Amino acid sequence: MTDLKKQILDLMVLNRRLDEGHQYTVPSPESYPYQWFWDSCFHAIILSYFDTTDAKKELLSLTDKQFENGKIPHMIYWKKASETDFPVIEWGKEDTSTITQPPMLAYAVWQIYKKDLEKDGADEAKKFVSKIYPSLAKLYQYFLKERDPRGNNIVSIINPDESGEDNSPRFDIGLGLPPKQTIEINFKKRLELIAKNKECKFDAPNCMKNFFWVKDVPMNSILVENLKIMSDLAEILGKLEDADLYITQAKKITGGMRKLMLEDNIFWSVYLDPKKDTYEKIKVNTWAIFAPLFAGILTKKEADFVIKNYLTSDREYNGKFLVSTVSRSDPSFNPEGFWRGPVWFSVNWFIVKGLKKYGYNDLAKKITEGSLALIEKSGFREYYNPLTGEGLGAKNFTWGGLVVDMV
Ligand code: GLC
Repeated sequence: MTDLKKQILDLMVLNRRLDEGHQYTVPSPESYPYQWFWDSCFHAIILSYFDTTDAKKELLSLTDKQFENGKIPHMIYWKKASETDFPVIEWGKEDTSTITQPPMLAYAVWQIYKKDLEKDGADEAKKFVSKIYPSLAKLYQYFLKERDPRGNNIVSIINPDESGEDNSPRFDIGLGLPPKQTIEINFKKRLELIAKNKECKFDAPNCMKNFFWVKDVPMNSILVENLKIMSDLAEILGKLEDADLYITQAKKITGGMRKLMLEDNIFWSVYLDPKKDTYEKIKVNTWAIFAPLFAGILTKKEADFVIKNYLTSDREYNGKFLVSTVSRSDPSFNPEGFWRGPVWFSVNWFIVKGLKKYGYNDLAKKITEGSLALIEKSGFREYYNPLTGEGLGAKNFTWGGLVVDMV
């Protein structure tokens, strides 16, 4: 095992927890002492390089707390909220939160399947897919049914935290905040929104209508890629009708995104303007413009456009440390702001996967090498200053482990 792989495995083991018979990984021992939904999907991808048994346990801890309607909560409190220093948030529930996160679950299952297939053959590999498939099906049906009440074929989030990018400037309009702001005011606004979400019982159609109605580009791109994978998983299990259904849904969402989000080669997140009752584009320049690459949603021409004019432009995203989450040209850019400029590993991972899909292998390699350089310089941190490479936020943070799946 290389040194780096060994460091990653040590970190995953350091952050591993076993509570109530459930094995999972905390993103950071001090700062994030619980289980998070999309983090656990990233963890499963990382763990699949070492031992798929651990990767499976991580995912089963998630599905154990799946709601009756199919939603998987974004946080699971295997320990009581009051037992740690993490802020206590009123979710209306004790053991989990009541909002969700980007549904990377099918992707993680697919990754495990591929590793098992190499090692143990098709029959063995199928077993886990078959076991977790009912939970997967419920999860994606939840997104398709509950998150698109008006049938626009794109799903909505009811709270910025559901995007996984809690403080991203894409949500400033929805929260009524200016591009320059403090982390405290942003947190206060999001807590106010959670109180309102509680009023509407976290029931998505009601919450959207009254409080926060955003259709986000990364969330929908991630959903499209995962629906395509659902189709492959269904096929592996011989469920051919399901396989058709999921591929059709992936196409519908791609179509919905083209209709409401696309302008001059760029996909923008949208919000519902309650006064006009129309969807308006949120033209805040963040990495979200690259997210559709991950799901192969962009045409070659559109991909070339965003890569040439944005990803590799010195005025926008190209710099010493790659890739900033917000363009340096955007008024909201803050090199130390939470999701408002710094480099995050999940974003680099999504972009690298997308670039490889379009044959931009040299650029993907450059971003991967840049990611490795960040770990070497500043260790496993939550995020990094894109101008200096300084490590920021939580320590012993797991997401750097995604580099095993980027090289
Ligand atoms: C922060 C991130 C979110 C992540 C969580 C745990 O809230 O914004 O994406 O899931 O930390 O790592």
